Amino acid sequence: MTDSTRRRRRLAERLAADGVLVSPLLRAAVEAVPREPFLHPGVFLDEGPVWRPVTASGTAPAAWLERAYRYDTLTTQLDGHLTADQTIEPVAGVPTSSSTAPATVIRMIESLDLQPGHRVLEIGTGTGYSAALMCHYLGADNVTTVELDPQVAQRADTALETLGYSAWTVTGDGLLGHPRNAPYDRVIATCAVRRIPHTWVRQTKPGGTILATIGSWPYGTGLAKVTVDDDGNAEGRIIARSSFMQARAQAVVPIAGDLSARTAYVDSERKTTVPPTLLDDWMPAYVAQLAAPSAQLVRATLSDGTKLLYLFDPERECFAEFTADGNNWTARQGGPLPLWDTIEQALLAWQAAGHPEIDSVRLRVTQAAHRYWIDGAPDLRWEHRLD
Ligand SMILES: C[S@@+](CC[C@H](N)C(=O)[O-])C[C@H]1O[C@@H](n2cnc3c(N)ncnc32)[C@H](O)[C@@H]1O
Repeated sequence: MTDSTRRRRRLAERLAADGVLVSPLLRAAVEAVPREPFLHPGVFLDEGPVWRPVTASGTAPAAWLERAYRYDTLTTQLDGHLTADQTIEPVAGVPTSSSTAPATVIRMIESLDLQPGHRVLEIGTGTGYSAALMCHYLGADNVTTVELDPQVAQRADTALETLGYSAWTVTGDGLLGHPRNAPYDRVIATCAVRRIPHTWVRQTKPGGTILATIGSWPYGTGLAKVTVDDDGNAEGRIIARSSFMQARAQAVVPIAGDLSARTAYVDSERKTTVPPTLLDDWMPAYVAQLAAPSAQLVRATLSDGTKLLYLFDPERECFAEFTADGNNWTARQGGPLPLWDTIEQALLAWQAAGHPEIDSVRLRVTQAAHRYWIDGAPDLRWEHRLD
């Protein structure tokens, strides 16, 4: 038995003990598929403001295996191009591809309720590890996986082929799905989307399911599981808190530059009823995104150390700027929509409903809109229309 085999068994044991890994077929996949070939040429370790590159070739084999079978997400690309073999020094950057934490991937695959013979579309191939697990489970011919970044796609394809998995690896924008292999029984996205593209609904068989993290903030986002019906719509609920890097084609452009220009014209000013710092918590942040889906929460620090907090909605050209006096907060708002009024109202309704958790949120996806609601809470319902 190789060291890698032992580590895979231990990983499966831990995932099963944690209640994450249940299906015997998936357990067989976790025990059979090595993670280390998917980490080539290396990973970046999070060291606060910088990322330290660690390569397979520059690490002792036992230490590399130890790293590969950690429970963590392992970042494999920064800023859309940099891999760990291209730098010796630690670097700053934004992760743009990774091997997601095994517990997250396994929990998602378990949620798919895969049955032998199912055809699956995965969006966000990344390293290819999750695709390999599904190939082992379903047979490679039943797995189509789409990756936007050509280099990432190439590395994943090589790793998959090396292990004998000739899956349908496609380089392209996964938001378009892959019509050529449709219809699918299951669609799974391992990058976050702002809304489920209707192309995915169109490419899923009636009765089939779509699993995707929806949201535009780096936290306060939810894993949606919806079932497609005979009329080409889909309905389901948010099954868990979930966080993923955003699909690049839908990624939010971060607000930067001179914020004072964005807040120059104030239309109203008032004390807040709830502190905007409530948005640091997951569920309030989730509710805020439901109430104002294109809003962004922005923090800034002045040269004298004063901390500033804002909400901007670039699509609706409105903002809220917050200042604190002890525990009292003032909101200055500008633009056609009173952004903080909208979000605060939703937060108050959520508090009045008894702080429902994310898994009480239901969702209906049609071609024209995403409709969200919580049963029994008439003030907690939102429609995000495309028109
Ligand atoms: C978290 S990683 C995926 C993890 C992967 N499933 C694994 O097991 O290693 C997210 C991936 O989604 C890709 N991605 C981002 N936007 C995409 C899009 N519009 N279409 C397809 N892939 C996309 C990124 O390039 C990145 O490789």
